[in-house]
Amino acid sequence: MGKIVVAIDGYSGCGKSSTAKAVAKDLGFTYIDSGAMYRAATLHFLNHYLSPSNPQDVAKGLKTLEISFKINPDTGKQETYLNGINVEDEIRSMSVSEKVSEIATVKEIRKELVAQQRRLGKSKGVVMDGRDIGSVVFPDAELKIFMTADLETRAFRRQQELLEKGELVDLEDIKKNLVNRDRIDSSRTESPLIKVSDAVEIDTSNLTFEAQVVQIVQLAKEVI
Ligand code: C5P
Repeated sequence: MGKIVVAIDGYSGCGKSSTAKAVAKDLGFTYIDSGAMYRAATLHFLNHYLSPSNPQDVAKGLKTLEISFKINPDTGKQETYLNGINVEDEIRSMSVSEKVSEIATVKEIRKELVAQQRRLGKSKGVVMDGRDIGSVVFPDAELKIFMTADLETRAFRRQQELLEKGELVDLEDIKKNLVNRDRIDSSRTESPLIKVSDAVEIDTSNLTFEAQVVQIVQLAKEVI
């Protein structure tokens, strides 16, 4: 089977990551969670009290930032590491979610992470999810998907995800966070979230997880 790039973009909490992961597994491709990279950068800035609006702090933060994806020997899953430390759970916390979209507006941070994402995907055979994958990171991706879902569905799914990790968060707080991130992500100057004209839109509000995975795998097989 040939190798292609599958770019999956969309609003916060549409289930892009879990879908992309399952699509990658099915195709025998590598999954890359670009949101995890912005989240890891955010955690790094928070841990070191660095301000994204201070250019010196940004330069300092980027100089000491090393993000990687490795298989965790305990779980057998690919997880996110920040400067050698597993941060997979910590980067999903509400404190990181509340700050990440602000960090993601900073041009220098985006430049660095986009360069890393391009390196990770240069051999193709990847499924990458995010906000600007089809528009900026891989504008030539062979398959571009734009995922949407209504707010209620997204908030409920995110609440379940957090619960599974032991964090109980009020549904209204999750909704506020999703709406706020969507607003910042769609209106920022640097690589705003947009649906590019060659992307296939999939509304997952009334789709089962399996159905959305099958649909994307099918589309991928048509272009491989
Ligand atoms: O995908 P996830 O919700 O984990 O992403 C967290 C945040 O990272 C998004 O709300 C967005 O602000 C930022 N992001 C981005 N560009 C990407 C991926 C994520 O700006 N390619």
